[in-house]
Amino acid sequence: MGEFMIKQDQWIMGIETSCDETAVAIIKNGREIAANIVASQIESHKRFGGVVPEIASRHHVEQITIVLEEALKQAGITYSGLSAIAVTEGPGLVGALLIGVNAAKAIAFAHGIPLVGVHHIAGHIYANRLVEEMQFPLLSLVVSGGHTELVYMKEHGHFEVIGETRDDAAGEAYDKVARILDLPYPGGPHIDRLAHEGKPSIKLPRAWLEEGSYDFSFSGLKSAVINTVHNAEQRGKKIVPEDLAASFQQSVIDVLVTKTERAVEEYKVKQLLLAGGVAANKGLRSALEDKFAQNPEIKLTIPPLSLCTDNAAMIGAAGSILFEKGHQSGLDLNGNPGLDITIHNYK
Ligand code: KG4
Ligand code: ZN
Repeated sequence: MGEFMIKQDQWIMGIETSCDETAVAIIKNGREIAANIVASQIESHKRFGGVVPEIASRHHVEQITIVLEEALKQAGITYSGLSAIAVTEGPGLVGALLIGVNAAKAIAFAHGIPLVGVHHIAGHIYANRLVEEMQFPLLSLVVSGGHTELVYMKEHGHFEVIGETRDDAAGEAYDKVARILDLPYPGGPHIDRLAHEGKPSIKLPRAWLEEGSYDFSFSGLKSAVINTVHNAEQRGKKIVPEDLAASFQQSVIDVLVTKTERAVEEYKVKQLLLAGGVAANKGLRSALEDKFAQNPEIKLTIPPLSLCTDNAAMIGAAGSILFEKGHQSGLDLNGNPGLDITIHNYK
């Protein structure tokens, strides 16, 4: 009988509401984007210089039904055609996570569809599978507003954090430096743009930490930027913002790329993935391309900008693999702001 069975297509709905984007996507067979809708709240948070949790939750409530319907329409399917619903379970803002989790639970219950809780960073990593099939073992450099990590994967759905930030995440440092320079939120793209117009002429520190460590630290760099600006102000001198942005960006990229290069060698990986919102950074993308693109031993994958910042296609892509591996969540699934990525690993 088996040989006559036709393998049915797998349709996964992804839902992401961990921060300031209400996003729903539909992924066919793990790698094909059938729908990808993102409703951004950035305009509402801009005037506060950062994400206001209560406002984020309220926007998610207002947007979620509209975005869900839009995604189904774009993919041309109904709930009954879905194989499973994947939703970001954490980490993130608890009130924001709960909107997505509860929407997913309601749909799963009403239509009898399996539910799969997904770690937000697993999603960022799996954005790469929408671009290129994964080759194991692999290493992923995850750089977002809340995380800076080097994640080693020996196989699908198995995550080992070999290094992480001890203080600020890379994106957080970008946003704080942008604030010092009076640039709008989120500051990453603005610093990136300015950096390309300036020269890295201002001396700023690089935190290498202990010998052999894959951990990161960006708070000292952030303080050094603040001190540089204040010292200049006190002396009545003007700092060239473009040069400061270029110097800051150079320092961040130096550390990220050097540590990644070392980990790639030590762990002998076949593929290097870039993931997270800061993966949109032009300087970082080209530094990694310069280092790895010509190396025949390793495949470098960098997602397009739209799949670097928060979206639900990445949650659907991660959910597809987790579902295939037999991970399923109960209807008691809860938003978990401190969720650990290793929950996905088989023991
Ligand atoms: O992954 P993401 O959308 O949200 C989190 O999960 O945190 O990342 C958002 C972060 C923000 O800190 C933003 O400033 C940063 O990504 N970002 C950038 C760039 N585009 C977005 N940072 C540096 N350069 C960019 N071009
Ligand atoms: Zn994110």
